[in-house]
Amino acid sequence: IFGAERNASKGPNILIESQWLPFSEKVGECLEQCWQADPIIDGRATPGQALHSDVRSPANRDILVGQVTYADHAQTIAAIDAAERFLPVWQSTSVTERTAPLRRLADLLEQHMEELVALCHQEAGKTIQDSIDEVREAVDFCRYYPARAEALYEEHLELGTLSGDTAHWQRQGRGIFVCISPWNFPLAIFLGQISAALVTGNCVIAKPAEQTSLIAARAIELMLQAGIPGGAIQFLPGEGTTVGAALTSDPRIAGVAFTGSTETAQRINRSLSRRECEPATLIAETGGQNAMIVDSTALPEQVVKDAVLSGFASAGQRCSALRVLCVQNDIADRIIELLKGAMAELTLGDPALLSTDIGPVIDEQAQSSLLEHIARMKEHAKVLAQTPMSGCTKRGMYVPPTAIEISRIDQIGREQFGPIIHVLRYSARHLDQLIDQINAAGYGLTLGIHSRNERTAAHIEARARVGNTYINRNQIGAVVGVQPFGGQGLSGTGPKAGGPYYLPRFTRLIPVDKA
Ligand code: SER
Repeated sequence: IFGAERNASKGPNILIESQWLPFSEKVGECLEQCWQADPIIDGRATPGQALHSDVRSPANRDILVGQVTYADHAQTIAAIDAAERFLPVWQSTSVTERTAPLRRLADLLEQHMEELVALCHQEAGKTIQDSIDEVREAVDFCRYYPARAEALYEEHLELGTLSGDTAHWQRQGRGIFVCISPWNFPLAIFLGQISAALVTGNCVIAKPAEQTSLIAARAIELMLQAGIPGGAIQFLPGEGTTVGAALTSDPRIAGVAFTGSTETAQRINRSLSRRECEPATLIAETGGQNAMIVDSTALPEQVVKDAVLSGFASAGQRCSALRVLCVQNDIADRIIELLKGAMAELTLGDPALLSTDIGPVIDEQAQSSLLEHIARMKEHAKVLAQTPMSGCTKRGMYVPPTAIEISRIDQIGREQFGPIIHVLRYSARHLDQLIDQINAAGYGLTLGIHSRNERTAAHIEARARVGNTYINRNQIGAVVGVQPFGGQGLSGTGPKAGGPYYLPRFTRLIPVDKA
């Protein structure tokens, strides 16, 4: 994508001034609400006897956002039973009857924009703009996958053979699909996975990330309101070690769509493969050690603008985010100087304020692990810049955007899922070794290239093993239906979400008798 501007989710994403005031007033009213999430089985909220947990805002632990009841083992089994009972009905429902309620859901999401923005912002600590982008991306998924499903199911599959026989197939949902979604896109990825599985004819059991069950529960309520049958979607908030483990060890599960850490994806894979039954499909989108390679022909101002956005937007909590900025020696000092200036201008603090660029990270665990990484790196690497923490409450989970100069990529260790950019200098004659070092980390999600030499850009693109390459622009915010998103190696199994080849993985081909 040469020189393309960021084009995150279309629609009324950027509000004109006259719309802003009523919008922000309504968001403000919704912030007063206290939310509740319970397991939803067969269309009914079923609180049960299980653990209740308070949800507090990452921006300020004194703010109670709501309460979640985690599903227990009996509810997990009840959800699988309910999905199993409804599967024959859903599989024989026509594709247009499956897609219509998803389109209604997209409309409902737009109608409830303020409420969802407020909830996303409070529960996940996202800035208002990130929260608007989040809802828009969810809307995009709920319109894109129905359109793709209709095209997929209308395909007439027929092969002629040399013997004169013909063979016919049709598509069918694989069965019960478990969708395990991450907290960093608590609405967009949550609904993206579910809508893909539903429109292709699978019954879904949705397990949201523990940190963001409230917005997920609200999305399920809207989904039921839009007309998705209660048998087709079961909702199980809960812990991965209990609910997730019970789901992935059950032989009735035909597939799992997972987005989260590489380690969890590997655990799910092991759990699925221990079952003595038909192997399940695993669609996993995981982490990355994403690099941006900047050669001496790049435009320094553009590089820094794109690096800051790629590394620090959403507090660096995107799997696509920039982690290693690799700069050719000749322009490294200039880039570092501009980077320091840009980082000094960033505003870290309350995500409710429009002036805030960077909000908090998700929870205490994330905060302490990122701060520990920065402290550890200080022992053998140089901190180049750190954004001041002046706008932050003590009760918030803040981590200051930090740039650290390193001399080798393997100094970083595991993926750091937060606002930290590592800066690495390289010499032009060692470009290939640099790309090999990036490949050797084993991940392969996003890569940024900044170069005005098209041959260099093409060479880097061909040698690097990644899922998404972005040239002369930032490397985050893949647009549904335009930039299919997903990696290789430790970064995931594919197929790419938001692209034309995502849905077939949720289906199987079955023979039809045309005689
Ligand atoms: N799709 C998101 C992005 O491109 C990451 O999940 O930033």
